[in-house]
Amino acid sequence: MRIDIITAVPALLESPFAHSIMKRAQDKGYVEIYVHNLHDYSKNKYRQVDDYQFGGGAGMVMMIEPIDKCIEQLKSERHYDSVIYMTPDGQQWDQPMANTFSMYENIIILCGHYKGVDERVRELHITHEISIGDYVISGGELAAAIVADSIVRLIPGVLGDEQSALSDSHQDGLLSPPIYTRPVEYKGLKVPDVLMSGNHGAIEKWRAEEAIRRTRERRPDMLKED
Ligand code: ADE
Repeated sequence: MRIDIITAVPALLESPFAHSIMKRAQDKGYVEIYVHNLHDYSKNKYRQVDDYQFGGGAGMVMMIEPIDKCIEQLKSERHYDSVIYMTPDGQQWDQPMANTFSMYENIIILCGHYKGVDERVRELHITHEISIGDYVISGGELAAAIVADSIVRLIPGVLGDEQSALSDSHQDGLLSPPIYTRPVEYKGLKVPDVLMSGNHGAIEKWRAEEAIRRTRERRPDMLKED
């Protein structure tokens, strides 16, 4: 899989892909991640990518031209399954969407900054407008990193033990059950006996029950039938 991320602030995307699972996924060739600096596509000598909004009002708007040039360049090189725009007015990202996108070959993620992009960018290029939640952060970069991370970890082989992605919270529509490691007892708090019983049937049953109990307690909305 290939992910191209377009941003006016590339430095914000340096760390999220340079460590741990995301780094390993790239080193092992499961994913290629390219970060494109929008300023490189500005025709202006100040490398400007934003301008005042027509009609007045606070906040700058990302201009269409550098974005269009960058996306057209990428599209001339390969086919893209999706061109995502990170924006708080988009569809809320969730685990089923991450599963779907993990099967794509090539995707572009455009990070909004300032007040957002010229509306015509959405009309011209964007196939998916994605929000990470009902709150506003200072730019789409951190949101793009979240979306990319949630996709990449689902590519078969990225996680050493494929089971561990399958048993993530939300993967089966439930929260995960509690987990423990050594020591068996700490400050009077004990690991449940069943987990040390060696009885795999009993352990699976306990985990399934705990997942439902936890979901009912914390996220009853997830158990509601549509
Ligand atoms: N940019 C600013 N806030 C955002 C959000 N909640 N989701 C996606 N992109 C954003």
